[in-house]
Amino acid sequence: MLKETKLIGPFSQVLPMTGLSLKGGMADSDLQVIEEAGIFIEDGRVLAIGLFADMLPKATDTTEILRLDGKHVCLPGFIDSHTHICFAGSRARDYAMRNAGKTYLEIAKTGGGIWDTVTQTRKATRAELVKGILKRANRHLRNGVTTLEVKSGYGLSVPDEIKMLYAIKEANEQLAVDLIPTCLAAHMLPRDYTGDAAAYLSEISENLLPKLKVEALTNRVVAFIEEGAFTRQSIGPYFTKAKALGFDITVHADQFSTGGSEVAVAFGAISADHLEASTEKEISLLAKSTVIATALPGASLGLRCNFTPARKILDAGGALAIASDHNPGSAPMGDLLTQAAILGAFEKLTNAEVLSGITFRAAAALGLKERGRLAPGFLADLCIFHTNDYREILYHQGNLKPCIVYKEGIKVVDKHKD
Ligand code: NIG
Ligand code: FE
Repeated sequence: MLKETKLIGPFSQVLPMTGLSLKGGMADSDLQVIEEAGIFIEDGRVLAIGLFADMLPKATDTTEILRLDGKHVCLPGFIDSHTHICFAGSRARDYAMRNAGKTYLEIAKTGGGIWDTVTQTRKATRAELVKGILKRANRHLRNGVTTLEVKSGYGLSVPDEIKMLYAIKEANEQLAVDLIPTCLAAHMLPRDYTGDAAAYLSEISENLLPKLKVEALTNRVVAFIEEGAFTRQSIGPYFTKAKALGFDITVHADQFSTGGSEVAVAFGAISADHLEASTEKEISLLAKSTVIATALPGASLGLRCNFTPARKILDAGGALAIASDHNPGSAPMGDLLTQAAILGAFEKLTNAEVLSGITFRAAAALGLKERGRLAPGFLADLCIFHTNDYREILYHQGNLKPCIVYKEGIKVVDKHKD
């Protein structure tokens, strides 16, 4: 069959995010910047990137040539590797209480917090959950996010977790952005569960994990290791079972107290996320491991707590991804670029480090190959900004949004036409 080819350009700059290492700090001078560039796409994947003028003669009669007017900078589509956008209800009341002086854990103990969202999510129909995901995911797409991880975790029973994961699957079928589902049944011990944490974890090991495999709902399992959630000791058998079934493991780690990142390293987790409370010990442990450290600045802003020590993680040689943690409680904003820019300003991160954290390093946190960079064979997911210099993007602290977004070679956002 005839291959579909497209040539897009000329771009003032294309940043392919290639030739950069997965771990450690980097300078902006490490970034490859291709000027006056064109991107050749074949069947939704990048075929070649080079000077637009050199590429034009290579276009055949059937190549669609998409000429850009004005100055544009192109990056790989952003990857948000940690969200909880499948939920019902609002936690505006929690937010107001927190700003009036109550802590996250205090609010949780008085009926707010995660349990409040669990109650509302359990009441919602699958169709209602799908509607909420579509609304939020489409907003992320307009902000340049072409791959979006979504956790369950507000069901906390076998049928309710399955309902959430089916809602994520159904939404994914209707969206241009790719949703990557993760099972967070180990978010907290459900208040209505009569047994202890060990009994709950054993129940979901036996009755939920195998179903997720059979029904192909996800290949990722995450747990919240924290006071008020699950301990290092209790999670062991659950993770052992999940690994034996072939799931990738990830951990909500060191958010308020340490311990989770040690579990992540011990179980060979793909990522350890949060890390606001990590000390030198955890930073060094993570940096020596293959675990991707994921900073969630939206949760630091939502809870007004420390930022993840991103600078120290990179200086120690760690791999740093940055994600929005978009959820109704701790991170209601859901704007990856704004949050990444803010983290960069507070933690003194280079453009190269921030942009790596929301592209190829985030892809690694999801175990995804062939996205997060623009190179031959990679998905043609493009995030295009109306500017002539890539440094303008973070300089505007998230207020400069992409004007055009391509997903696998198809234009899915065009704000010039809005
Ligand atoms: O990543 N840390 C635990 N879970 C979520 C918060 C979920 C919620 O508050 O609803 C987080 O911040
Ligand atoms: Fe989270």
